[in-house]
Amino acid sequence: GPSCSSFPLRDSTQRQGAVRSAAMKITFCCTDTKAEPWLQGLAVALPGAEISVWQPGAPQADYAVVWAPPQQFMDEQAGLKALFNIGAGVDALLKLRLPPQALVVRLDDAGMAVQMAEYVCHAVIRHFREFDGYEADMAAGRWGYRKPRLRSDFPVGVMGLGVLGERVARALAQFDFPINGYSRTPKAIDGVRAFTGAEQFNDFLVASRVLVNLLPLTPETANVMNQDTLGRLQPGAYVINVARGAHLVEEDLLALIDSGHVAGATLDVFRSEPLPAGHAFWNHPRITITPHTSARTLRDESIAQIARKMAALERGEAVAGIVNPARGY
Ligand code: NAP
Ligand code: GLV
Repeated sequence: GPSCSSFPLRDSTQRQGAVRSAAMKITFCCTDTKAEPWLQGLAVALPGAEISVWQPGAPQADYAVVWAPPQQFMDEQAGLKALFNIGAGVDALLKLRLPPQALVVRLDDAGMAVQMAEYVCHAVIRHFREFDGYEADMAAGRWGYRKPRLRSDFPVGVMGLGVLGERVARALAQFDFPINGYSRTPKAIDGVRAFTGAEQFNDFLVASRVLVNLLPLTPETANVMNQDTLGRLQPGAYVINVARGAHLVEEDLLALIDSGHVAGATLDVFRSEPLPAGHAFWNHPRITITPHTSARTLRDESIAQIARKMAALERGEAVAGIVNPARGY
């Protein structure tokens, strides 16, 4: 209340915060990432924290900001309170032996959900409206209409209704496609017909023609898109994989395109990245590929989110996006 306005509570809280963050040690270990802008951004967001790039033998830190760190990093930094992954997917991280007490925190959204929504809507609409066909027509100097297609003939199934999948399903629903959603636990999302758990997976597949994959890669979901499952989609199926390459059995997709059951695919992720030279996906007339770019980590938004969560953990508060290692995501 007003009587507190002259009481220096705020100042002393800030001073305590500064004292705490002065003691906070952060180590940065991100493969394929330019460290300097991250260090600068974290230093601005967490004044007083000691932030440095990890190297073998570096002193023990409290918190780590990581992407695909080596096992040696984990073995040496055994006293970490938390690991902040600078992506949504933690499959690579969970393959390592982690310090058992360390929380694993994934990025949640941080600007990725809107990117995923635009990428997937673009792919669905490009296929549904036959833009490739019109592009070829225009290039050939041909002015010709294609018969309008019914969106009721193009039900879209979104596998994974988490931070990204829910946003994608809601965005697609705006275009009046019938939307099916598949998750491990029950969901209620406006405009989305929800299918839950392994026992409803078959019903989800047979109700869908376009399949969008936004599952995390776990032992349960590896190879989830294969000859059998893709074969259950409605004829003229279209596959959009924006999660992880190991979700898709690549030769099964190629065989189903050859057989005509699958009309084509848009793929952003691959079993081996970069996609090896000479791979059948390069130059395939029915496959569109992009270089793992559908939802990029945005540095400023990610730094702000990570710094906010580190400060919250220091205050003993709960944070969103804590991974359950036993569940795999
Ligand atoms: P998330 O919030 O953890 O959501 C995961 C969803 O998958 C949840 O709905 C979960 O069900 C469901 N799920 C997990 N295991 C399942 C199973 N066995 N059966 C059925 N449903 C299952 O993850 P997110 O942030 O949306 O990200 C999803 C993935 O996208 C990431 O793991 C990453 O691999 C990928 N990704 C790719 C890019 C790119 O640029 N290509 C960028 C970012 C992320 P519950 O809701 O019931 O738990
Ligand atoms: C990128 O693929 C991510 O997991 O954020």
